[in-house]
Amino acid sequence: MRQLKALVTGSGGLVGSACVDLLARQGWNVVGVDNDMRQAFFGSQGSTARAIKTMCQDHPQYEHHTIDIRDRGAIRDLVRSVRPAFIIHTAAQPSHDKAASIPYDDFDINAVGTLNLLVAARDYCPDSPFCFTSTNKVYGDRPNDLTLTELPTRYDYADGLTGISESMPIDQTLHSLFGVSKVAADVLCQEFGRYFSMPVGIFRCGCITGPQHAAVELHGYLAYIVRCAVRGVEYTIYGYKGKQVRDQIHSDDVASLFYEFFKAPRGGEVYNLGGGRQNSISILETIEALDQMGFNLKRRPEQPNRKGDHICYISDLSKVNSHFPAWRLEHNVTRILTDLARTQYDAV
Ligand SMILES: NC(=O)c1ccc[n+]([C@@H]2O[C@H](COP(=O)([O-])OP(=O)(O)OC[C@H]3O[C@@H](n4cnc5c(N)ncnc54)[C@H](O)[C@@H]3O)[C@@H](O)[C@H]2O)c1
Repeated sequence: MRQLKALVTGSGGLVGSACVDLLARQGWNVVGVDNDMRQAFFGSQGSTARAIKTMCQDHPQYEHHTIDIRDRGAIRDLVRSVRPAFIIHTAAQPSHDKAASIPYDDFDINAVGTLNLLVAARDYCPDSPFCFTSTNKVYGDRPNDLTLTELPTRYDYADGLTGISESMPIDQTLHSLFGVSKVAADVLCQEFGRYFSMPVGIFRCGCITGPQHAAVELHGYLAYIVRCAVRGVEYTIYGYKGKQVRDQIHSDDVASLFYEFFKAPRGGEVYNLGGGRQNSISILETIEALDQMGFNLKRRPEQPNRKGDHICYISDLSKVNSHFPAWRLEHNVTRILTDLARTQYDAV
């Protein structure tokens, strides 16, 4: 049987590397694209060079390309020569806060880079399932308009809402420049699904995490807070008394959902993706959980909240669960935190 080939962009990053691992274990040949732009965004602590080196060593069927996704010609040449049966596009400038200082790079990478991939896919492999990692920041700060109730350790939805569904409007709200560049890419992906009938899935993720995260203060909150607790680094809470809530999903669970999409793709479909209510946790609850594990977090005085930051974001997973009934979340918050702490502890 001819071996299937997949193309994964951002292959050295948190989500991309989990996808490469899963596909390689399933026997795929994987072509990865990553130029370690994360190091340029966040400095050496954010570098994905080591992850890429490990991947090349661990997976003989992995082929790496240090291409910038903004390089339209190089992306077209690669897609034309590989003709992948599956594309997972994760390469991005991923930080809400960073985008304001690098608006051209942010838009060129997130929006135009995605367009480069979509057009190449349309021209050379239009029937190949294409997964795009979008973000819940496409909803801007509209989730903050929901009526909330303040509990001792977290905020929650006042009216018993389980989570936020795909029906939430995305315009006329504050997005950050990152949110805007991702909206552009999100809508482009929807359009290629609808207008060109391509099997493109758009996954609006919340907080993705995993031990391989090259976490920094501006991106990768859970892995970053665990690193601070384990290594004795002071941590700053930005606003909302530390009661802001996120639903955490492990990168392996994201990768396994993408694989389900490959098996049953739909064109231009949008999904909210996170750990759902069962994996939701506030910063105060995270600090408490770390304390119980024996890691006491040193805290600096609280600072004002980041502009447009969500107060309580929990994904409604109903649509994902109904379209992909075989998919299950394999990592709960306790397991995620334990794995993160072990990785940090081993690295000290
Ligand atoms: N991690 C999260 O919590 C989260 C939440 C919501 C959405 N997302 C989205 O998921 C995707 C993956 O996120 P992640 O956490 O794995 O990010 P990451 O930063 O760990 O990985 C992205 C990778 O893309 C590479 N890259 C960046 N610009 C590039 C370019 N111009 N050309 C080639 N490679 C480039 C980086 O070097 C990095 O290795 C992103 O699109 C992000 O917006 C992530």
